[in-house]
Amino acid sequence: MPSLFDPLTLGALTLPNRILMAPLTRARAGRSHIANALMAEHYAQRASAGLLIAEATMVAADGCAFTGEPGIYDDACAAGWRGVTDAVHAAGGRMQLQIWHPGRSAHSSLNGGVQPISSGERAIQGLINTPSGKQPYEQPRRLRDDELPAIVELFRGATRRALQAGFDGVQLHGAHGYLLDQFLRDGVNDRSGPGFERYGGSIENRARLLLECVDAAVAEAGAGRVGLRLSPLAGSNDLVDSDPEALLAYVAGQLGARGIAYLELRHMDPALDAERRIAAVARQHFPGPLLRNGGFSAATAQAALDEGSADAIVFGRAYIANPDLVERLRAGAPLNEPEPKTYYAAGAAGYTDYPRMAA
Ligand code: PHB
Repeated sequence: MPSLFDPLTLGALTLPNRILMAPLTRARAGRSHIANALMAEHYAQRASAGLLIAEATMVAADGCAFTGEPGIYDDACAAGWRGVTDAVHAAGGRMQLQIWHPGRSAHSSLNGGVQPISSGERAIQGLINTPSGKQPYEQPRRLRDDELPAIVELFRGATRRALQAGFDGVQLHGAHGYLLDQFLRDGVNDRSGPGFERYGGSIENRARLLLECVDAAVAEAGAGRVGLRLSPLAGSNDLVDSDPEALLAYVAGQLGARGIAYLELRHMDPALDAERRIAAVARQHFPGPLLRNGGFSAATAQAALDEGSADAIVFGRAYIANPDLVERLRAGAPLNEPEPKTYYAAGAAGYTDYPRMAA
């Protein structure tokens, strides 16, 4: 069985180890949504990861859900990211961009007054942080079927610009209750009737938008540079599905047929039986590399590789506080604890100042 420190072929990429950095929103891009030198330093510090997956990045200029998020919706955004990928590559790393549309998780006050969009019309029950404080989520506008080609074009354009910016491919964000997930799961996708029936109802229809976006990314980058994140059981953003296993079985099979580079499953707890079952469903239907993410320690990560339920493990919180996570795990060294107060704060504190382990 492979060790966490063994190389892995992930589509077109060869990773030196199986410890990956998760996409983590850190909100350091400011109002311009353009990646900057501080972000380049942050990611370059973490370049020994098998693969860095950069934070959720807006495919649409009016698709912001979080102040300070970066974008990849125009050439200025791509130019900003070029500084980051150059720094990571100079430090010996590999980096993909997570491309993302929040759908109904956005808010008009973050998007020049534009109402959020979704598969359906149900608002998230809860509050969102806006520049003027916490506000209720808004009722989304239900996209018509004939508007969906434009969404696919957003993901195609984002992929093209990510490559232009020097990324080693993209990860589509199909998880956590954001736009693509809002089509996948029937907790919000209740589409039916003229103009709304092709992307709602059956699992095949609900998966159509996601798969069209995957196809567009593959057409730009090649299947070997495209990955996807799913979170079949996550209730984030108030989203559930009536049959997550059947949904995943279908989507995983479709992704396998397309030969994409990997599937990342975002779980909440690797020890939960339901999540182990979901990982087994993915394994059964997706023949490519399976990445698991969610609460793993070095020991449980290696155990997942040993039992064959994952090919690599993606670490989020541990990567916030440990730029040299690979070296620490290899040495069995203690980990720094992340400081939640600085997760979404401005500046270097809690971002680029976590210490490496003593030599
Ligand atoms: C998430 O995937 O959970 C996520 C994405 C974008 C954010 C925050 C969280 O801004």
